[in-house]
Amino acid sequence: MRISTKMKKALNDQIALEAAASNSYLAMASWCEVTGYQGGADYFYAQSDEEKTHMLKIIHYLNDIGANATIPTVKAPPSSYKSLEGVIKAALKNEQSVTKAIHKIVELSHKEKDHCTYAFLEWFVNEQVQEETKFETILQKFDLLGRDKLGINEVDKFLAAEAGDSSSTAA
Ligand code: FEO
Repeated sequence: MRISTKMKKALNDQIALEAAASNSYLAMASWCEVTGYQGGADYFYAQSDEEKTHMLKIIHYLNDIGANATIPTVKAPPSSYKSLEGVIKAALKNEQSVTKAIHKIVELSHKEKDHCTYAFLEWFVNEQVQEETKFETILQKFDLLGRDKLGINEVDKFLAAEAGDSSSTAA
């Protein structure tokens, strides 16, 4: 194993966070679907898949360096939300805590002079900037388009377009 026990734990904890994010977004997608926000549903189903790819990146990294990934149990996420805006706010909050967790592991890699993990985490640092910006932009749409039924419908259409873009540009 080429990383410390502490680093192994930190990365396994991050697997659990990415799994929880994937599950939360799945619950948000499902709520959007049954509430009539088809754009939101498409968006969050895609977002849930994206989180799974983040989780897999860390699993493969740990396994490749002989540190053996641990597959976590995942707590059930909330199954209902007050509004589409509430869903987006919860998603942004979630991303902010994921960013904090990633930054902590980056700091640990620095401290331990673990250059391999430091380089591995660079992708996640950049990804988190994009993820937070994405949700901040959606939240801004509520201010721009309004919070009445028509405004929310326009935000939902924006989410549908974003979901289409991300599925066509996905690697
Ligand atoms: Fe994998 Fe959105 O954090």
